[in-house]
Amino acid sequence: MQSNRVLLTGSGGIGGVNFARALNFGAKLNKLDLFILGTDFNDYYIKLPKLDAAEKTPRHSDPYFVGRLKELIRKYKIDFVHPNPSSEAKVVAEHLLEFKRLGTKTFLPKVESISPSKEFIWKCMRDHDVPVPDAYFLSNHEDIKAAFKMMGTPLWIRAKEGAGARLSLKVASPKEAELWISLNLIQGRVRSMKDFVLQEYFGGRDIAFDSLWFDGKLISSSTRVRLEYPMKHISLTGLTGTPSVARIIHEEKLTKLGIESVKALDRKPHGFYSTDIKEDDSGNSAITEVDGKWHTTASLWGYALAKVRQDNSFNIAFTYLQLGLGQKSPKEYGTHQDLYPEGFTMIRQMDSGVVLSDQENRRSWQIL
Ligand SMILES: Nc1ncnc2c1ncn2[C@@H]1O[C@H](COP(=O)(O)OP(=O)(O)OP(=O)(O)O)[C@@H](O)[C@H]1O
Ligand SMILES: [Mg+2]
Repeated sequence: MQSNRVLLTGSGGIGGVNFARALNFGAKLNKLDLFILGTDFNDYYIKLPKLDAAEKTPRHSDPYFVGRLKELIRKYKIDFVHPNPSSEAKVVAEHLLEFKRLGTKTFLPKVESISPSKEFIWKCMRDHDVPVPDAYFLSNHEDIKAAFKMMGTPLWIRAKEGAGARLSLKVASPKEAELWISLNLIQGRVRSMKDFVLQEYFGGRDIAFDSLWFDGKLISSSTRVRLEYPMKHISLTGLTGTPSVARIIHEEKLTKLGIESVKALDRKPHGFYSTDIKEDDSGNSAITEVDGKWHTTASLWGYALAKVRQDNSFNIAFTYLQLGLGQKSPKEYGTHQDLYPEGFTMIRQMDSGVVLSDQENRRSWQIL
């Protein structure tokens, strides 16, 4: 009998919990024997996912992180490693040979495609004629005024490294940008103003594009528009990382753009990629981010649709595992652009469960 022993790192994060749930559901539906070992550095959140075993690891930046994972792979006879947080995925990708030597499988993009800097992403897109917001990478104070002169007002300031809209803010004048940079320098969040970029402000729709690839072949994709963020009033930008309401959309233009963005980042995409697209007030779309990582709700969408339809072909995390383990071939799965049905809306909120709603047909399902 085939062994399906999975190591899921960062399993206590929201994305990790979603991922474990999707795998457990997929295994149950397909009557597959599955063992999930979850790891996390956080003592509290690791209690949230449904796991067969839980172990603590140090943070990804700790020199012992890789050694600890290897130790656990041996101890639990792990067949497949899925590092869920991109910070951990990058470290695993950097040490891929060591994991291969242990006989364990992964399904990760190449190192350079995981958590790239915003500057690297922007240049990759530009080089491949994929639309991006105009940008000014700052070197000195004069550049701030020059950026406003070049791109007008308001502008969007953001850190070049990091996730979760790190140090982002809509700024209406060089003074505002100047103050924002100074405050973050004084408080030690950045070391130099070179850590910032000023971009054209795109005030329209906020779109997420997810795609799974195998050796350069597209396996599936989906596009959704983010409609609400949880607790948006407690953050300066209103962007609190993962949306509380999002709706599936089918728009050829966006699918094409999403696919182009991944190919511009990675000539031969392999693994899961998240793309963020913003629109301006006239509906022009531009890429703000492409990363070989899982959006927090990517596996939750797959789980919700698989649960409602009782069909694992929607269960993107489970498909990823089957492809990664070599239990299903990319040919067998085919290519599914716009995997999820149009108009489906997911509504989620802390302590309030998750609802999937098909608004056109006035149907709703309590998913969690
Ligand atoms: N030029 C821009 N104009 C307006 N909003 C922007 C712009 N660039 C990014 N944003 C907003 O900031 C959010 C976060 O930015 P982005 O996804 O590009 O990178 P990130 O900081 O790595 O975020 P995350 O880790 O949350 O995905 C975007 O989803 C978008 O809503
Ligand atoms: Mg993003």
